[in-house]
Amino acid sequence: MRMTLGESVRMTLFGSSHGPEVGVVVEGIPAGLKVNASEVQAELDRRSPVGKSLATRRQEPDRLVWGDGIRDGVTLGGPLVAYVQNVDVRRGPYESLEDVPRPGHADFPARVRYGRSVDLSGGGIFSGRMTVGIVIAGALVKSWLSRAGVDAVAYVHRIGDVEAPEVGDDIPVERIRNLCSSHKIPCPHEPSALAMARLIAEIRREGDSVGGIVEARVEGLPVGAGEPFFDSLESVLAHGLFSIPAVKGVEFGAGFAAARMRGSEHNDPYGLVGETVRPLSNHAGGILGGLSTGLPLRFRVAIKPTSSIAREQQSISLSTKKPTRLVVKGRHDPCIVPRGVPVVEHLARFLIADMLRQGGFL
Ligand SMILES: Cc1cc2nc3c(=O)[nH]c(=O)nc-3n(C[C@H](O)[C@H](O)[C@H](O)COP(=O)(O)O)c2cc1C
Repeated sequence: MRMTLGESVRMTLFGSSHGPEVGVVVEGIPAGLKVNASEVQAELDRRSPVGKSLATRRQEPDRLVWGDGIRDGVTLGGPLVAYVQNVDVRRGPYESLEDVPRPGHADFPARVRYGRSVDLSGGGIFSGRMTVGIVIAGALVKSWLSRAGVDAVAYVHRIGDVEAPEVGDDIPVERIRNLCSSHKIPCPHEPSALAMARLIAEIRREGDSVGGIVEARVEGLPVGAGEPFFDSLESVLAHGLFSIPAVKGVEFGAGFAAARMRGSEHNDPYGLVGETVRPLSNHAGGILGGLSTGLPLRFRVAIKPTSSIAREQQSISLSTKKPTRLVVKGRHDPCIVPRGVPVVEHLARFLIADMLRQGGFL
């Protein structure tokens, strides 16, 4: 099993949901980079369910622990190790799942491929908890990117049938971040954030779950980042984003809507902004030919409804091959989307750092 992403800057995830810890080894960060531990912790807190009434009731403080690779808040240039301990582990509810797979979760294919030896308690290595390492890795490169003038933000665009209005390219990343942080759901549009929160609470009461869309923006990229052919910006980001558990779709710019457009409508005309040549609209989502155009990178990620729901479902006993009614126990998010927001944002940050490094921009 290889859980490594990236070329010039690489992350390797380790641990599992109910093992001693979950974390990451990050390679390729130069020596001498200042890392503010409380800023990395703040990013982990955005992902954590603690104190969020609409999230899973698994309560873990997710306190960041540094291993090798950093001293007095400064990177040493070697592999950097960071993790959090799993302290709220309850294996009991998962014991029956060893034989009866949850519909919609990784249990069935993982059990067939890896047999009895794989630890699927809490979802094992397929758990959303593995994304702790992604958040740490993205938070580590944040100051490195901001020195190069690059910043990223992700936010909720849709939960179920509640869709927020478009966020224009003219609204800066910092402003979107501030708006999101003042709402219960990280969506910049307050009425939508309230409606989304109401919907999630209602769905939880029904013992069901709901999916949605996370939108992300990366600004400050130079023109030309990306490596043709197979490491185009789109391919690299899509590879990473599809690795996030529960992600079922990724689109850049106009995305699937481009299929219904005319060229005259979809093409972004060029003009001068000050002295600089720029596309004047952004249907391309900031990428042409796999290279950045200098406009903000824009993409959306579709996240499915949480598979572990409280309602009774149809499954099968893998040992007896008899149909079985299953009631999933354990603690689960009725909607993963809000907690997926920092994961999408940090994965994008990390991969952009890698691509900028590969292209000699960083
Ligand atoms: C932050 C985060 C939290 C998640 N929490 C849960 C959860 O509480 N219950 C659950 O069934 N799935 C949860 N998931 C999704 C599962 O891990 C995922 O659906 C499962 O591994 C199967 O993978 P797939 O959906 O990509 O096919 C979470 C995913 C993320 C990103």
